[in-house]
This record gives sequence, C-alpha cells and structure tokens, in this order.
Amino acid sequence: EKGNYRHYMQKEIFEQPIVVAQTLQSYVRPFEGEVALPVSEADLEQVGRLTIVACGTSYYAGLVAKYWVEQFARVPVDIDVASEFRYRQPVLEPGGLALFISQSGETADTLAALRHAREQQQRIAVVVNVPTSSMAREADLLLPTHAGPEIGVASTKAFTCQLAVLAALAANLARANGRLTRQEEEDIVAHLQEAPAALNAALNHDDDIAAMAHLIAPARDVLYLGRGPDYPMALEGALKLKEISYIHAEGYAAGEMKHGPIALIDDAVPVIVLAPSGPLFEKTVSNMQEVRARGGKIVLISDANGIAQAGEGCMATIEMPEVHPLIAPLVYAVPVQLLAYHVAVLKGTDVDQPRNLAKSVTVE
Ligand code: F6R
Repeated sequence: EKGNYRHYMQKEIFEQPIVVAQTLQSYVRPFEGEVALPVSEADLEQVGRLTIVACGTSYYAGLVAKYWVEQFARVPVDIDVASEFRYRQPVLEPGGLALFISQSGETADTLAALRHAREQQQRIAVVVNVPTSSMAREADLLLPTHAGPEIGVASTKAFTCQLAVLAALAANLARANGRLTRQEEEDIVAHLQEAPAALNAALNHDDDIAAMAHLIAPARDVLYLGRGPDYPMALEGALKLKEISYIHAEGYAAGEMKHGPIALIDDAVPVIVLAPSGPLFEKTVSNMQEVRARGGKIVLISDANGIAQAGEGCMATIEMPEVHPLIAPLVYAVPVQLLAYHVAVLKGTDVDQPRNLAKSVTVE
C-alpha cells in the first residue's frame, strides 16, 4: 500500500499536489473564475462573526484562515483550541457561524466544542476529511476535504487540503459580504489553481532537504519563525518536528523573538525561518538578522529571490518556488513536513506511529 514509499507519512506528503487539486475541484470553477462551495450561497450570507475551533494541526489551519477571512471578508474571527473553548465561556451571539476543523471528525475535544456551540444556537460548519465521521453528521454546513485516508499519525495532506478549503471559504464569505470584485475573485481562483503545481515544485526539493537533515538531527531545541499567515506554518513546522523526531521545537511570530525567546539563541539552537518573498519579507529578514547577530544558525526557507537577498551567512537554505502570498502557507507546509520527516528517519524513530500519539484522540 505504501508503494515505493518507506512510510505512509512520506507517501501522504507526496500525494499533496493530487489531493489538493482533487479538493479544489469541489470549491472553485476555474473556467468561470469563481469560488463555488458545496453548500448553498444563502448559508454564507450575513455572517457577522466567525468562531473557529480545532486541535493540533487542524487548529493551525484555522489560524491561517483567520488571516484570510479577516483580510478578504473583513469578518472578525475568534479562534480557540477546542480544549479551551468551552471553559472560557465564549460570547456567542445566537445565529452566529461556528467552524470546526478536523481530519478525523472524531476528536473528542472538537466534537464537545461543536455540541457546546450548537447549544448556544450557533450554525455549525465543519471542514472534515472523513465523510462518515460524527462531525460530518452533526454539521449544518459540510465542507469536506478530499485528501483520502490519512494513515500516518502526523497530519500532512489533510492539512494542505484544509487550507485549500479555507481559502475558498474566505473568498466566498468576502463575496457574500460584497467585499470581492469579479477581478479579485478571478485572481484568487487563479492563485488557488496554481497550488498543485507549486506543491510539486516544492516536493522537487526533497533531496536537498534530506541532505541537510543532519544539521538538525543533533539539536536539542529548534525554533521556527514566520510572519503573517506563515506564522502558523512556523507553529506547524515545530509541531511536526516534535511529534515525529522528539526534538523540542517552538514556533514563534518572527517579530516576537526579541521579546524573550532570543535569549535562547546560541549556535546549538537551529532557527528555521519561513520567509517567502512578499510584503512581509523585509521585516522577517530583519528579525532573522537579529538572530544571526547573536550567533544563531539559520535555515532560510524562501524562494530564489529571497535567498539571493538574504541567504548569505545562513547555515542552509531551502528553495521554494516563487508563489503568490495566498498560497505560500500551502507550499511552505511541504518543506517543514519533509524536514521533520527526514530528521525523524535519521534519528530512527517510528515515523508513522510516534510514541504516545494516536491518529484520532477520542478522549477529552
Ligand atoms: C498533528 C496531529 C494532531 C491532530 C489533532 C487534531 O500532526 O496529527 O495534532 O492534528 O489531534 O486531529 P483532527 O484533525 O483529526 O481533529
């Protein structure tokens, strides 16, 4: 079943161009240049506020969605990890829209949060990969990802498919709120349609990433930095590394480093910087230089342009294709997944079945 792949996780990482394309088929009409969700248009009208709840990697997809929904639709977004949601007594106006994101559709904390939101008269939207799951059944608005079965415990392809769905959802909310011109909608659709090829281009750097994994494998701690929608990707990179290689890792907003974590920097703590070219590049790079000035060893993940501008003096660079900022989070998921994967393989850990973890967490 793994075909030529050594692990399910590796196979699933490489499936991403196909499954993201498959997922997009249900969310965009490329020839018309329109987003078209598999729910009725009326369901997404008059959304004044969006509450997002999820766990783990699915939560990070939700964090990216917050940037998109606020940027495109100008709809305020509240987001919580599911295990905290119910206990902070969230203010939920009756008739509000609550969005739950889950690969399995069975995560106990997320399911309990969904039921809590239902009791608070929220409309329930669900982004879920398992169509027969509890969450899929309990949803008012079902937004499926079409990643196919995900077997590796660490989530990979489900995550990028979630991002594809969430980008389309953000665009749809924007259109419903009269915030999207025809041209903007066409552009968003065109950028999303570029994602599968860009994911392929990112996957082509697998050998380079495998070749530099030995720089990370001996570390005890690793930091990941990103800004804007690439900040959640730093969190995701750190989670992937923790889960499968058992190396302690933290993701930070690049600008937050100087408020504390920079004290950790020395030449034994590799710092992975996610910095695609674009409006946030210069700021992220200046945060990177602060780290370097303190002896930090940097792995810069950027495109050719970014590497030409800022790659000098880095311990290593990983080149990504040049992409529109909208799809950068999908594309930059690939190198952080592959890096975690190759480091874990070097360390000899059980990549598909990491210790202490289960594919679906059905206790609260
Ligand atoms: C990370 C991972 C977990 C899950 C989390 C939520 O690689 O697999 O953090 O993302 O347990 O699971 P779902 O998405 O099934 O609700």
